Amino acid sequence: MRAAVYPDSGNPADLTVETVPDPDPDPGQAIVRVEACSVNHRDLWKLRGTRETGDGFVGGADVAGVVERVEPGRRGPSVESGDRVLLCPVLTCGTCRYCREGPENLCAEYDSYDGGFAERAAVEADRLVALPDGVDFVDAATLPIAYMTAWRMLERASVTAGDRVFVPGATGGVGVATVQLAGLRGAETVGTSTSARKLERLRELGCDVTMETDDPDEMVDRVEDIGPVDVTINHLGGPYGRAGMEVLRRGGTQVVCGRTAGDTTELDLWDTYWNQKTVRGSTLGTQPDLERVLSFLADDAIEAVVAETYPLAETAAAFLDMTRRDLFGKAVVTPQT
Ligand SMILES: NC(=O)c1ccc[n+]([C@@H]2O[C@H](COP(=O)([O-])OP(=O)(O)OC[C@H]3O[C@@H](n4cnc5c(N)ncnc54)[C@H](OP(=O)(O)O)[C@@H]3O)[C@@H](O)[C@H]2O)c1
Ligand SMILES: [Zn+2]
Repeated sequence: MRAAVYPDSGNPADLTVETVPDPDPDPGQAIVRVEACSVNHRDLWKLRGTRETGDGFVGGADVAGVVERVEPGRRGPSVESGDRVLLCPVLTCGTCRYCREGPENLCAEYDSYDGGFAERAAVEADRLVALPDGVDFVDAATLPIAYMTAWRMLERASVTAGDRVFVPGATGGVGVATVQLAGLRGAETVGTSTSARKLERLRELGCDVTMETDDPDEMVDRVEDIGPVDVTINHLGGPYGRAGMEVLRRGGTQVVCGRTAGDTTELDLWDTYWNQKTVRGSTLGTQPDLERVLSFLADDAIEAVVAETYPLAETAAAFLDMTRRDLFGKAVVTPQT
């Protein structure tokens, strides 16, 4: 089969499509014909070698496609060949306390799946969620990493109707998902970007207040003008972590899931204890979280935001567009084209 193989150079421009052996499924796994796989910033991190990936590595977590066959396992078959499916791209041990009682994303072996930028993928059959009629593969593939993560972060902060939610860098995968899902929960959203064009799209999706800046101090000043926020949802990290704390009301919560703009941030201890603010970490989510956001898409409560689709041979272009901060919404690779 054809697959987009990560280059040793760690340069997304060097990403090439090669012929590789078809995946060999273990018991309990299914072979999925990949119709769509979206690109996430984590794919770029892995490609750049932030984590060791090894030779011939194929990335891509957000797989939507059709089951070709299922290798019988210990548990009964959860899917059959011909089923249209979306992968919940999480890996767990399946037996620990958190896998049994939840939340499964606290499992010590918790990790995310890779292998979707290819014509076929071998995945755990019980991680496949049936795709409702009317939801197409490209739209579905926008959901797993970005929307599952955003939904879990909103849950971690118990975002509810009337809350004001601040989202620095609101025009990418996690950012757009946060604006849409917070809006669905009845919250007011405040989003930032360096691009007026992207902010216009964000307002069309329901963002209440937009700010065209990437200067954390300017963000703080401008949020002060409208009043403090209840919750900051922060995937940027770096100096935006400090800004995300500063804009909180007394008793407010910042949830962090990423570090695009830096690994560390300053924490003002007086402000944190005196104003009784909370900072919480959050990583990906659970299969029920994914099923929830998929139901929102199926019910037209949210729309899929697809920036562009790319044939497998143009996977490099999808990555490069992400590095240029050109995209609004998700880049989706369609490996059968
Ligand atoms: N822990 C988890 O479970 C988890 C899950 C998902 C994602 N993440 C992490 O969350 C982050 C976002 O992921 P994503 O896929 O949503 O990324 P993405 O689509 O590339 O995010 C783009 C957004 O980030 C802003 N941005 C990009 N680089 C920036 C920089 N250097 N300084 C300031 N703003 C910047 C962009 O602003 P402009 O509009 O101004 O270009 C845009 O709003 C990544 O670090 C990712 O690894 C973590
Ligand atoms: Zn476990």
